[in-house]
Amino acid sequence: MGIRSFIKRKVNQRLTPSDAGPAPQSKVADTRSLPRAPDSQGFSAVLRVDDLVDGQGRTVAVGSAAIAVFRSGEAFFAVDDACTHEDAPLGEGKVHGTTVTCPYHDWVFDFRDGRCITYPDRYVGCFTTKVHDGFVWVGARTSEGSTERGGDHADGLNTSKRPS
Ligand code: FES
Repeated sequence: MGIRSFIKRKVNQRLTPSDAGPAPQSKVADTRSLPRAPDSQGFSAVLRVDDLVDGQGRTVAVGSAAIAVFRSGEAFFAVDDACTHEDAPLGEGKVHGTTVTCPYHDWVFDFRDGRCITYPDRYVGCFTTKVHDGFVWVGARTSEGSTERGGDHADGLNTSKRPS
């Protein structure tokens, strides 16, 4: 058999389902509603695990509090959703590894411990999190954030109050 007839035979060959291997598994989207009540440990469900992909954040509400939740790999972190510069929603910032860059003026925070990398004394408060039953849960506050506001913009602009 020449190469042309070999190729022609292969081109004309139809794959049977058993030749094609197992059918691709399509993941069924989790559309369950979030549990409304806090669990017995006081954690509130804020997202389905699949609602955030790695490197993504989102602002959620726990009672009357706005909290920024971030995913880094399989781990989830929660901090106050108010930037300690001018209260921008950190849940809308860009995530790089375990840091988020504020969407307003580029201050950078490590969401594992709330540390502000731009101005170390301007940390944000943190909350404990857990994953259970396919949901991300936010629990008690683990640290308080700075109450100061104002200061230099990371983009070079100045505001009237500057951290000392
Ligand atoms: S409000 Fe976040 S850096 Fe200005």
